Amino acid sequence: MTEMTVPWQKTLASWWESYVRRFWGRDEETDYHVRLKVAHTARVRNIARQLMHPRELPAQELALVDVAALLHDVGRFPQYWQYRTFRDLLSVDHADLGAKTLDEEGVWQWLPPEAAVVLRQAVVWHNKRALPPEAAGAAWLPAQVVRDADKLDIFDMLTTDKEYRMPPTDGISQAGGVSEEIADMVAAGRLGLPAQVKTAADQQAFRISWVYDLNTVEAVRYVDRAGFLPLMLAALPEGEAKVRIGQAVEACVKRRLATEA
Ligand SMILES: [Fe+2]
Repeated sequence: MTEMTVPWQKTLASWWESYVRRFWGRDEETDYHVRLKVAHTARVRNIARQLMHPRELPAQELALVDVAALLHDVGRFPQYWQYRTFRDLLSVDHADLGAKTLDEEGVWQWLPPEAAVVLRQAVVWHNKRALPPEAAGAAWLPAQVVRDADKLDIFDMLTTDKEYRMPPTDGISQAGGVSEEIADMVAAGRLGLPAQVKTAADQQAFRISWVYDLNTVEAVRYVDRAGFLPLMLAALPEGEAKVRIGQAVEACVKRRLATEA
């Protein structure tokens, strides 16, 4: 578990515990989905801490990254409660709902004002297609790291044999290959588009393309060390698309490992 050395870090962590408790006990289906997000949140915190470990950051900055990871999916709980799905397209943007929930809960009053601004944006931005250009600076590190840790947890879910392995998404066909459209994008070094995802193979290619959107070199190293790419690529159907995508993403990781200190 994360060591907590900053007072507001403890306050937010105990708020989160009691907040989540409200969503337990409605029915089995809800409990199951609450459990998924509690476990995901714990893993994302853990990954975020691992990513930042080599930087030896001051306690305040580490606390910001940790609390961003803790809060990022706060919107998942009311989303499932109200809509019985985690699919934003069928319900609500869970990041925006999370920020709104945090506003209503009055959590920002426990934080220094600058910390509140950074954390609120980290929540709002965590699921958006890209971070806005203004989020590139060091002040927005928590937003950058949470996006990376969230993606790394999904890579882990896609490749693990453990019980948290990613289940198939409702409404996405297991049959069929990678479409030409998405293969071209990913082979060209670009993020896929959610609208291009028609089959499970498209979805896999789309998720593999997230490798292009890692903010920190520590996250690229994590991908490399964990061996996520070969495992994720192995799940693509055999063919030309698989080869092209594999070459492009592997080259991207190699280049970043070679050029970034
Ligand atoms: Fe999320």
